[in-house]
Amino acid sequence: MRVLSGIQPSGKLHIGNYLGMIKPMVEYQNRSELFCFLANMHSITSVFDGVALSDNSQNALIDLLALGIDPEKSVLWVQSDVPEVSELTWYLSCVTPMGLLQRCHSYKDKVAKSIPASSGLFTYPVLMAADILLYNSNIVPVGMDQKQHVEVTRDIALKFNSLYGEIFVIPESEIREELAVVPGVDGQKMSKSYDNTLEIFAPEKQLRKKIMSIVTDSTPVEEPKDPDTNNVYLLYKLFASESESQEMADKFRQGGFGYGDAKKALFALLMDHFKEERKKREEIAADLGYIQEVRKKGAQKARAVASEVLAKVRKAVGVA
Ligand code: ADP
Ligand code: TRP
Repeated sequence: MRVLSGIQPSGKLHIGNYLGMIKPMVEYQNRSELFCFLANMHSITSVFDGVALSDNSQNALIDLLALGIDPEKSVLWVQSDVPEVSELTWYLSCVTPMGLLQRCHSYKDKVAKSIPASSGLFTYPVLMAADILLYNSNIVPVGMDQKQHVEVTRDIALKFNSLYGEIFVIPESEIREELAVVPGVDGQKMSKSYDNTLEIFAPEKQLRKKIMSIVTDSTPVEEPKDPDTNNVYLLYKLFASESESQEMADKFRQGGFGYGDAKKALFALLMDHFKEERKKREEIAADLGYIQEVRKKGAQKARAVASEVLAKVRKAVGVA
């Protein structure tokens, strides 16, 4: 079973990315063949600063390594290091009906958020289909927002196969409902584009400040509070043990426990949770040679699969 997913290096990775995508990937790598990549070509639909994109990509690669993606067990690469994906995007785009892309919510949502309405942004689902189909992926774990894109991928693959024969594996998306939406500090979905994230590897001071900025209501400290409607508790619960969560919930219900106390507890919990990863990240970041080697070897492994699939496609469409 081949499991594939990608993440855009369009900013610093946050705990929503961690719970929604990175953690499931790390768990997968012990029981499946994991393909995990940084979708930097997707990011150029919204990041127009080459230096920033290149830095973000390098940082995200280090983050993934520190969080447990193991380049010995899995294939970990940077999308643009496999040029085959661009060529496949073209072949796929020639069988993709316009209507299929016109129905995509993500394009409309992004344009509504002032991301420029380029043709790249519009055809982005075709690049994503190429990412998935180029590696014969069976399962694609994604957040809710990406489900439609995997459906589009299936439609494109079926159309291509019906025209040219059984070339592509038909993938399936996998959504973890319980982790579908991690809330941000303002209560909306945590997202790089909303400036409401808790970054996994933020410097200690910055993380504390961000946690202290979590929006809460103005119930006085003495009064009882409902834990299930406050973001501090909801975030705490995602990382705490059952007994720790229960303890905090009881304190909120009893009264005399303020949001400030809960925020301090959340900060301590996150610092402790990622303690090892923070240390590992520092070690990896100091070893530029290792990072370059990981990137190079990852690209080689990914290209070995990609070139085989692309050779079949080229032959099928008649350009070989
Ligand atoms: P962002 O919204 O921060 O730009 P991406 O769109 O790059 O995040 O998402 C990368 C991965 O992380 C996707 O699989 C996505 O579903 C997951 N993800 C992002 N934000 C959250 C969140 N708040 N809760 C759960 N999963 C998330
Ligand atoms: N579009 C995805 C996102 O914004 C990232 C991505 C690109 C992806 N290609 C993919 C995810 C292929 C899964 C499979 O989150």
